[in-house]
Amino acid sequence: MPDNSKSLMIQTTDLTKRFGRFTAVDKLNLSIEKGEIFGFLGANGAGKTTAIRMLCGLLKPTSGTAVVADCDITHQSEQLKTRIGYMSQRFALYEDLTVKENVLFYSGIYQVETSRALSVAEELLSEMGIDLGSKALTSSLPLGFKQRLALTCSLLHDPRLLFLDEPTSGVDPQARRAFWNVINRLAEKGKTVIVTTHFMDEAEYCHRVVIMQEGKAIALGEPAVLKNEHSVPNMQQLFLKLVS
Ligand SMILES: Nc1ncnc2c1ncn2[C@@H]1O[C@H](COP(=O)(O)OP(=O)(O)OP(=O)(O)O)[C@@H](O)[C@H]1O
Ligand SMILES: [Mg+2]
Repeated sequence: MPDNSKSLMIQTTDLTKRFGRFTAVDKLNLSIEKGEIFGFLGANGAGKTTAIRMLCGLLKPTSGTAVVADCDITHQSEQLKTRIGYMSQRFALYEDLTVKENVLFYSGIYQVETSRALSVAEELLSEMGIDLGSKALTSSLPLGFKQRLALTCSLLHDPRLLFLDEPTSGVDPQARRAFWNVINRLAEKGKTVIVTTHFMDEAEYCHRVVIMQEGKAIALGEPAVLKNEHSVPNMQQLFLKLVS
């Protein structure tokens, strides 16, 4: 059998998380290739964030294993954190800092040289229409801008793998489109992007998706193939058909 492990960014084996007697993620088996845009779909409480937090090394699995960016998530979680960017579901930047102060704060956390962090941020922010030199506090930015700033901060250390947990939730359609342009460009540059979303139009932009229900993967594959298999015209209808 050919060894394809070198092209894999994520491989999970029966990855499971229980909170007490409740199973939030139930024997998840995924193989995600380098350079993929991979979507996690599912209703509220399906287990998407729990799965992602395990894959980031933030939460220990109850059972099962995963190798992410060549690190075992249980035994090499510190090394793993240096290789990934993570944008959490809740806005995690400091509202009472300016844009530049947030960038400098995160460059400190990621131990990136200040000049390098500022040049990475300048490039990413200017193309997203945000002025790095603005004196405005982050709290005054529209949500779409805040999310782009959060994305920028998660990219300062040039991670090979990016986890975006509902990055466009609450963001207007134009800003969502701009955000997805950035995601596509990152993938073109070879980054692997894992994204969760409740927007089924965004699910169409993913190379592959997993649909989760009650912690289990109930469908996995390319949007076009899944739609074809289930004879539905779009991801919205696929989701409604599969998720009871
Ligand atoms: N620390 C915890 N302790 C107990 N239960 C938890 C904990 N974290 C998550 N859960 C439960 O696990 C289930 C899955 O939660 P999770 O946040 O992973 O769902 P999700 O798919 O990300 O949902 P959403 O779309 O609302 O973000 C939920 O029922 C949640 O209440
Ligand atoms: Mg979630």
